[in-house]
Amino acid sequence: MSQKNVSLPVLLGTPRKDRQSENVAKWVLGKMNEREEISTHLFDVRDFDLPNDHYGMEIKDQFPEWRDAIIGADGLVIVTPEYNHGYPGVMKSVLDLLLPEYIHKAVAFVSVSAGVWGGTRVIEACVPMVRELGLAVTFSDLNFPQVQNKFDEEGKLLDDAYNRRIVGFLDELVWMSRTLKWGRENLSSKFHE
Ligand SMILES: Cc1cc2nc3c(=O)[nH]c(=O)nc-3n(C[C@H](O)[C@H](O)[C@H](O)COP(=O)(O)O)c2cc1C
Repeated sequence: MSQKNVSLPVLLGTPRKDRQSENVAKWVLGKMNEREEISTHLFDVRDFDLPNDHYGMEIKDQFPEWRDAIIGADGLVIVTPEYNHGYPGVMKSVLDLLLPEYIHKAVAFVSVSAGVWGGTRVIEACVPMVRELGLAVTFSDLNFPQVQNKFDEEGKLLDDAYNRRIVGFLDELVWMSRTLKWGRENLSSKFHE
């Protein structure tokens, strides 16, 4: 019997034209959909019509699909490219729409870069930021160095090693998500009243 009992949305963090991160996000989403315990949905920062004259939680109701997905989520996958060793500003703007909705939920990072380090530095930059959102970070990252060589023109992944790596990546995220869900539901805390 199929039990899709872990809800894990994916956030694609860059709007850049010709973004390579889109191939990565779509591949990750496909692998998540193969797991019978995971339900997921791809959120794309391009789809957030962010205003130029307001910011943050006060405008979260303008983005009900994102708000409700995070309220119902057990965790989150963030697919982020590395831009000057940091994350895209628009990704931060999307994440800043919410705050209590994230607290004590898991987050796992997929990083993307043209260089050889695979975006390890952008993950290090993200960790203190998501901690302030109340998210709990896994330590099994998925890194895509030299991403321009990793997919063919149809977006098919060319490196079979990722089919192994994503198993451990998702296993840890599911475990963290379930564990934190149990805690939120069973242990009293001022954060989850
Ligand atoms: C503004 C900007 C800054 C970048 N900085 C880095 C960097 O610090 N390290 C790196 O490996 N690649 C860097 N890149 C290249 C990206 O890693 C490359 O675009 C890669 O394909 C992943 O991003 P994408 O999804 O936008 O394609 C940068 C790209 C842009 C547009």
